[in-house]
Amino acid sequence: MSFVEYGELMKEGDTAIIFLGHDSMFPVKVQHGSQTQTKYGVIRHSADLIGKPFGSKVTCSKGGWVYVLHPTPELWTVNLPHRTQILYSTDISMITMMLELKPGSVVCESGTGSGSLSHAIIRTIAPTGHLYTVEFHQQRAEKAEEEFREHKVGHLVTVKNMDVCKSGFGVTDVADAVFLDIPSPWEAIGHAKEALKVKGGRICSFSPCIEQVQRTCLALEEHGFTELDTLEILLRVYDVRTVSLPIADLGAGTPSSLPCPAPQGVAQFKSGVPLKEVVGHTGYLTFATKSLF
Ligand SMILES: C[S@@+](CC[C@H](N)C(=O)[O-])C[C@H]1O[C@@H](n2cnc3c(N)ncnc32)[C@H](O)[C@@H]1O
Repeated sequence: MSFVEYGELMKEGDTAIIFLGHDSMFPVKVQHGSQTQTKYGVIRHSADLIGKPFGSKVTCSKGGWVYVLHPTPELWTVNLPHRTQILYSTDISMITMMLELKPGSVVCESGTGSGSLSHAIIRTIAPTGHLYTVEFHQQRAEKAEEEFREHKVGHLVTVKNMDVCKSGFGVTDVADAVFLDIPSPWEAIGHAKEALKVKGGRICSFSPCIEQVQRTCLALEEHGFTELDTLEILLRVYDVRTVSLPIADLGAGTPSSLPCPAPQGVAQFKSGVPLKEVVGHTGYLTFATKSLF
């Protein structure tokens, strides 16, 4: 198992996702002799997981069952242990596309945080690209490094424990793209420019507040970046429901003395209704291009 390559059978040390339903799943590290408790009973790793194919339906000790899924960056994002605020797939998908990431891309990121975005970047740039990720909180940097190793993607990423605003990314003229998710991104724009390849390259900065965006845009312009673009992605989820409505008789023969036609039975149909409560604003994404000249 690796986060960038599908593995058929579960092995010692693999990460697997125990799936009880879309709103109920969690990650486990597969280990000989370990047991995992679920509401359906115990899963015994040696008997129930090791040597079984990912995707198996596993019966727990109380008779209920779960699916055991192969990990992906998308599943990791909704299951990872939160050490910080994280980016979710809606923003991540726009970031990877607008930064034009592809296999072989070299990317610089700060901060690493909980590694949600990092896993998605690594999957996109594998097998020949590289991610340099900078995190100034020592425990977070160490934990991220440990997770990358456990997820068998350690060779695709270098974690640096330093302050990106003071020391930059530790690389010069190599990056195809830079991503910033820090409180004061404007202080890192000069370092981002240094890290980017000599000509061209894309940058993205994520900020919750418009005042941060304004300062970042000024810094981007000062450093000669072009094609500045700020956007906000809002996800609109529709609930699909079966709706029952009475069928009105609109035909001839309705007694004119009645105030409205009598209903002629009930019709059922599917309808999509936007949820009343939706995830609102998370942050603004500001993109720009390092000038070619
Ligand atoms: C919101 S989190 C990043 C979350 C990450 N994008 C994810 O998806 O999991 C911001 C991280 O930036 C780190 N950070 C803030 N300022 C920094 C700086 N100047 N240099 C390096 N890391 C910094 C924080 O310690 C924190 O872990």
